Amino acid sequence: FIRLQDLIDQNALQGKRVFIRADLNVPQDDAGNITEDTRIRASVPAIKAAVAAGAKVMVTSHLGRPTEGEFKPEDSLAPVAKRLSELLGQPVELKQNWVDGAGLEGLQAGQVVLLENVRVNKGEKKNSDELAQKMAALCDIYVNDAFGTAHRAEASTHGIAKFAPVAAAGPLLAAELDALGKALGAPARPLLAIVAGSKVSSKLSILKALADKVDNLIVGGGIANTFMKAVGLNIGKSLVENDLVDEAKAIIDIMAKRGAQVPIPVDVVCAKEFSPSAVATVKDVKDVADDDMILDIGPKTAAQLAEQIAAAGTVVWNGPVGVFEFDQFGEGTKTLALAIANSKAFSIAGGGDTLAAIAKYNISEQVGYISTGGGAFLEFLEGKVLPAVEILTQRAAK
Ligand code: 3PG
Repeated sequence: FIRLQDLIDQNALQGKRVFIRADLNVPQDDAGNITEDTRIRASVPAIKAAVAAGAKVMVTSHLGRPTEGEFKPEDSLAPVAKRLSELLGQPVELKQNWVDGAGLEGLQAGQVVLLENVRVNKGEKKNSDELAQKMAALCDIYVNDAFGTAHRAEASTHGIAKFAPVAAAGPLLAAELDALGKALGAPARPLLAIVAGSKVSSKLSILKALADKVDNLIVGGGIANTFMKAVGLNIGKSLVENDLVDEAKAIIDIMAKRGAQVPIPVDVVCAKEFSPSAVATVKDVKDVADDDMILDIGPKTAAQLAEQIAAAGTVVWNGPVGVFEFDQFGEGTKTLALAIANSKAFSIAGGGDTLAAIAKYNISEQVGYISTGGGAFLEFLEGKVLPAVEILTQRAAK
């Protein structure tokens, strides 16, 4: 695909109308205050570059999952406009009902406007050609910088790229793809992946895709329980998916045939109940009782896995290995997080819980790349083609 930087190098933005699709879908509290602004910060470089190159800049994003055609106050990007303006150090006016170009006629070079929640428009989710054509007509250059929404084929992430005079990838989208490509395309070996979370079912396709690729597949959380059951261990009353025990066995077998491994915990941290005040007990995996609930990996397991992380060339991390929200079940996740921080391996991390763990253990500076994608990051790990990227690539090939 064409990169925004290529166009800037050709001085192609001067005086041009540039439409940037960002992912500014940030969490807010009930009062509408932004609680986490990473995605807004991550979108700033593209906008600043376009401003510096003399473009008339329009930025849009979705926020949440509003009902089409029914704009409600809580769907508004107004808090995002305010935050973006602070980060850019220049005014960012929010434009309503912009699809037909109203209020955009007088846009000046170097000016930035934010176009209200794109998902309120009829046809956005369905990727309607009619809406995509209208949006394409607003600009000379379309820039997709929304990695977090790259797995969605919507009018502003996909359709518009067919119709805009020029379609390019922004620096964030490009950086995410570069980092993921480095981790999974031609990785420095050993390639180690941590796939953790409560359910095998929600990550089965990732586990299967990685089983053919990685040298070590560390499973954690409820996912590990199903794998422990698959090798015949008692997991007490821990969260488990009995219908996926055979799938877990198959993954272990595929890995073993390639000389790769799924390390099974040797010790775990158990409790009799799931609560913030639950008493944590470290047990050898052979001693887990019928009324035990496994809520973290034990210290011996964590130390072994930390050694494997230290020896890895590449680490891909998605999901905490224990209930780290409760400190007594957070040691496993903390040990692995610190091992990643101290490792020379190229590391990439993504997903909401993983980002929360990175923040809790304060290692963001030491992770090679932190993805802004949730669903998009997971779909990339599954080996799926991201439609918003595919269309940019097709456009560039023409
Ligand atoms: C996300 O938060 O993962 C992206 O912004 C995509 O949002 P969506 O799942 O509502 O499409």
